[in-house]
Amino acid sequence: MSARGCFITFEGPDGSGKSTQAGRLADRLRATGLGVLSVREPGGTDTGERIRQLVQHTPSQESLCAEAETLLFAASRAQLTRQLVLPALAAGTWVVCDRYADSTAVYQGYGRGMDLDAIRAINRMATADTEPDLTLLVDVTVETGQRRRAARHAGEAAAYDRMENQARDFHERVRAGYLAWARQFPARIRTVDGERDADAVAQEIWTMTKAQLL
Ligand code: TYD
Repeated sequence: MSARGCFITFEGPDGSGKSTQAGRLADRLRATGLGVLSVREPGGTDTGERIRQLVQHTPSQESLCAEAETLLFAASRAQLTRQLVLPALAAGTWVVCDRYADSTAVYQGYGRGMDLDAIRAINRMATADTEPDLTLLVDVTVETGQRRRAARHAGEAAAYDRMENQARDFHERVRAGYLAWARQFPARIRTVDGERDADAVAQEIWTMTKAQLL
């Protein structure tokens, strides 16, 4: 039987560049000969992608309450974990996931003010107690995140999604929340300065990953 694969997650505020970095790390791991599955949250499964549509673009004028939002993200995670993540890890495939349980602690806990103990319990069920072996937090200021999002969406119609449209103080709580959350799990969550150019960030992430997992 092959050894269990490693589970790596990426976290960071909107516009941090974490999706680019997740793709680059997955490519670099594949180049060493490892089997790597790349997935994202919310999404990754048919059910998860439908949930992504729901949370990013509310279907009607009614606002999605924080509780429903929390459970929808958790539902996407529960499906992804059982359908793809756990089978891949068991088969020896590495999994690189763009956002995971920490996003709910930070966005719904620190951002929306939902009770963190309740979120921990929900996350334990959603993840079947699966902890990433390594989490890379790509940290940027709120200004940088906003600037990059504006550049990404330049020229698009109806560009910003529901989460990105939150007020500035929400994004401030998310950024500070990530840093506070990371301090509680120093062995698992490694914070990377995402203000630098993508090559420099990718290099630091590669060095950290090699040191911790390869
Ligand atoms: P993301 O995939 O990073 O967005 P994009 O591909 O548009 O850059 O994340 C989607 C949004 O959902 C993002 O604003 C963060 C939010 N989110 C939560 O609030 N809680 C969660 O548990 C997850 C997974 C995402």
